Amino acid sequence: MVDFVTGASVFAIDVLSRVVHVGTAMALVGGSLFMAVILLPSLGVLTEQSRQDLVGSVRDRWRRFVHGGIGLFVVSGFYNYFRAMPSHKGDGLYHALVGIKVLLAMVVFFLATVMVGRSSNFNSLRVNPGKTLRLMLFLSLVIIFISGFVKVRGN
Ligand code: HEM
Repeated sequence: MVDFVTGASVFAIDVLSRVVHVGTAMALVGGSLFMAVILLPSLGVLTEQSRQDLVGSVRDRWRRFVHGGIGLFVVSGFYNYFRAMPSHKGDGLYHALVGIKVLLAMVVFFLATVMVGRSSNFNSLRVNPGKTLRLMLFLSLVIIFISGFVKVRGN
């Protein structure tokens, strides 16, 4: 009975962790894609003042999603990794690919944080937001490719 309850709880957390992880990827990558290909190119129809107001408002709202999303990615991602470890003992390729993925994720988290931040030290990354967003999207695509590859290739 105790084993059944423990097993069912771990199963429920495994499912929840995957749903949170993939759901966060959908929301953050989807939101960034929307900004890069729809919102930014559409700003041209606004006056300079309205453009600055809209960008400021979007940045303030998006900031909460970025900070919360990074937290969810890190917690669910490392949970997934620790759960996957026993079935990948001695599997160098798996650990190398997940390691590269985590490093790339750190770069994306840094860029995303800078984009919603206010520090003048990183103004150069905000001067051309489309360029930084496209770089983030490219890195996210590589991350998703690595994640899908390690999943499908199995143990
Ligand atoms: C610290 C950050 C992260 C860690 C530690 C992490 C770790 C992991 C791990 C261990 C898995 C399971 C791999 C397996 O099946 O064995 C996974 C799955 C996945 N990750 Fe991440 N991840 C992180 C960030 C991200 C980010 C930033 C994205 C998207 C841009 C992402 C997208 C995905 C997707 C889509 C899957 C599901 C793959 C599938 O089941 O087909 N992850 N992640």
